Amino acid sequence: MKTSKVWHLGMGDMQILPVSRHRAPMKKLMWIIILVLFVFVFLMCAYIYPPQSGSACYVFSSRGCQVISEWLPPVPAREYTDAEIASQVVIKDILNAPFVLPKNPKVAFMFLTPGSLPFEKLWDKFFQVMISHLFGHEGKFSVYVHASKTKPVHVSRYFVNRDIRSEQVVWGKISMVDAERRILANALQDPDNQHFVLLSDSCVPLYSFDYIYNYLMYTNISFVDCFKDPGPHGNGRYSEHMLPEVEKKNFRKGAQWFSLKRQHAVIVMADGLYYSKFRDYCKPGLEGKNCIADEHYMPTFFNIVDPGGIANWSVTHVDWSERKWHPKSYRAHDVTYELLKNITSIDVSVHVTSDEKKEVQRWPCLWNGIQKPCYLFARKFTPETLDNLLLLFSNYSTP
Ligand SMILES: *[C@@H]1O[C@H](CO)[C@@H](O)[C@H](O)[C@H]1NC(C)=O
Ligand SMILES: *[C@@H]1O[C@H](CO)[C@@H](O)[C@H](O)[C@H]1NC(C)=O
Ligand SMILES: *[C@@H]1O[C@H](CO)[C@@H](O)[C@H](O)[C@H]1NC(C)=O
Ligand SMILES: *[C@@H]1O[C@H](CO)[C@@H](O)[C@H](O)[C@H]1NC(C)=O
Repeated sequence: MKTSKVWHLGMGDMQILPVSRHRAPMKKLMWIIILVLFVFVFLMCAYIYPPQSGSACYVFSSRGCQVISEWLPPVPAREYTDAEIASQVVIKDILNAPFVLPKNPKVAFMFLTPGSLPFEKLWDKFFQVMISHLFGHEGKFSVYVHASKTKPVHVSRYFVNRDIRSEQVVWGKISMVDAERRILANALQDPDNQHFVLLSDSCVPLYSFDYIYNYLMYTNISFVDCFKDPGPHGNGRYSEHMLPEVEKKNFRKGAQWFSLKRQHAVIVMADGLYYSKFRDYCKPGLEGKNCIADEHYMPTFFNIVDPGGIANWSVTHVDWSERKWHPKSYRAHDVTYELLKNITSIDVSVHVTSDEKKEVQRWPCLWNGIQKPCYLFARKFTPETLDNLLLLFSNYSTP
């Protein structure tokens, strides 16, 4: 804080104040004081934040840097466990592998549902080949359905025979993460699948197929919701049994509805270490905490292994503005052209912490550095909204 204040004053003076000849000696003295202060603050900072490669060392030559680091106490570094080192090498290798796009890259649409999908007709419309297109969407996507309760009855040809072997899912328990991993593993079997979108039975598309395909395919990040919540519904759910690999400072929260690039989907498959920590120590009722594995495993995992590789927001919209236990569910009368345009016009992602401060974190949704609409899908639509959505789809889905 001190640095920026002093620096700011100095810069301002230099540019704005005219230096009259009369005051010149005074100015000189002031500049010397500012300079001395600046050096002092800099050294203080260098002491408090020891130089790591590429930060403070940039300012001085590498020899100067060595001299400074000799004054400083050694940076306390935790010794990594065997499992952690093994995990790091595997993950680094996968992330650094040369990237070759297949000839026919596809987006995998993965549906987690208890049974039949109420919006299959809408998805059918979404996937359908437009007559005006020379080449259809066929071959640019694949569909997977994980139905945890009852065998779905399919009404769209894109969904027929796309059910995978599934198991029961209990909300809040690790079985939800298991279902996510199961459907990912199935979708990874197709080498053409390059992006993996997790959707629920209450999700609807907000754009045309081409828009969504391009949005996901022409960026190299994954859309995983991730933020730091110091409150009871965030870090309050952390258990120290997760140590040493999962430290509280790395614990994160986010909605489960991810969209992963292929490399990220593969590292989720490769992960046994972090997964086992969440399986064993993140569950409702453990130590009086209400840890929900699917809200913490992926955000925390990616925050540890590849924080710069995720967008930190989910491309699936949900409305928490009512501040209740569950997000808003849309009924038939809610579904209007205006509502859908409102959702697609959002280009800032918002997270609110669960402590008393209720701190609001806002980030622009940057896609390859450009601010764009955040959401491609939206959820918590009740089945009764289907007819309205079918009527409106071709109108609202054009950007
Ligand atoms: C994405 O690709 C660009 C160049 O194509 C690169 O500069 C950037 O670091 C990449 N980002 C990630 C997260 O891999
Ligand atoms: C996501 O957040 C992490 C820190 O929490 C940051 O390092 C990363 O750059 C963010 N991702 C993007 C795309 O801004
Ligand atoms: C759309 O957004 C505007 C401005 O935020 C708001 O006043 C209006 O109620 C919203 N309409 C719907 C249908 O959500
Ligand atoms: C379609 O969208 C336009 C605005 O782009 C609007 O004026 C028109 O009323 C909409 N049509 C329907 C059927 O909703």
